[in-house]
Amino acid sequence: MLDDTVQMVCGGGGGLGEETAVAMAEHGATVVVNDLGVDVSGEGSDAQPAQETVDRIEAAGGEAMAHFGDVADCSYTEELVADTVDEYGAVHGVINFAGILRDSMVFTMDEDEWDAVVDVHLKGHFSLVRAVSAHWRERYKAEGGFDRQRALTCVSSGVAAGNPGQANYSAAKAGILGLMRTAARELHQYDVRVNALWPTALTRMTEDLPAMAGADEETMGPQLVPGAPVFLASEGAEDVTGVTVAIAGGNLAIVSDPERERTLSKDLGEGGAWTAAGIDERWDELAEGFETTRMSPGY
Ligand SMILES: NC(=O)c1ccc[n+]([C@@H]2O[C@H](COP(=O)([O-])OP(=O)(O)OC[C@H]3O[C@@H](n4cnc5c(N)ncnc54)[C@H](O)[C@@H]3O)[C@@H](O)[C@H]2O)c1
Repeated sequence: MLDDTVQMVCGGGGGLGEETAVAMAEHGATVVVNDLGVDVSGEGSDAQPAQETVDRIEAAGGEAMAHFGDVADCSYTEELVADTVDEYGAVHGVINFAGILRDSMVFTMDEDEWDAVVDVHLKGHFSLVRAVSAHWRERYKAEGGFDRQRALTCVSSGVAAGNPGQANYSAAKAGILGLMRTAARELHQYDVRVNALWPTALTRMTEDLPAMAGADEETMGPQLVPGAPVFLASEGAEDVTGVTVAIAGGNLAIVSDPERERTLSKDLGEGGAWTAAGIDERWDELAEGFETTRMSPGY
């Protein structure tokens, strides 16, 4: 499904990124594997994880190149795109799995915990989409672009229900959805498709989460996820853009965008704007049947 394409997998040194990089190579892609080799909290740095994914791909007969660096650094991602194009002549797809966690309740979270997580996830996605889309746009103007140009971002359940203890992570992931939807609309004119993947799997990032208690490799392992990113990078997803696709074990889903659930309209000519008292009077009418208390049991 990915023959003759060059796919860049960021955060490809472990977990979902590693499995996706290997699957993309199995589907015929040449893969560029980026990773900074940090621990779950973003500490340390090591070129080895990206190289080990490349070794795995090469051992199976595939072609790959390791690229060590921080996706949140805009000059690094420019270099990553330039080196990929120098080496292989093209970039057909980019997917970003680079991520860290620094959990804390919002009232105890310090500024560094906020900045580090928002930086890697949200700025990391911006940095990559910016670098690769600038290249695609230039190429499109010069020679009509490549036959396929796909950017896939990575989000999580935090954007839907919120995850207590992960205000930084949930905010970054929600921001990535805004970036993805905007980039999809901006880049369609250059034949670029931009989507979001919402995976759920057992990795070092999730193994201690209460929601994963009892999950096992067979039913929730990271090897169950790559079908979705491979499909979204393939010819079959040509008409998919601005969409969030979730995959968790055997479940595949399309996720809705935020929408107005219900609306009360008033004639501004008769009585002017909605006042607080006017809203109070009609709140029950607006909210009838709608769950207006959002909370997690135990908090
Ligand atoms: N595992 C899940 O259930 C799940 C659920 C929802 C979303 N996600 C998202 O999927 C992505 C991958 O998660 P995972 O579970 O495979 O985690 P993981 O910790 O196994 O992998 C993350 C990888 O990103 C790399 N990385 C971190 N910061 C980097 C940076 N600045 N530049 C380059 N590489 C960097 C790490 O070294 C690591 O190899 C993350 O964005 C995560 O938020 C995972």
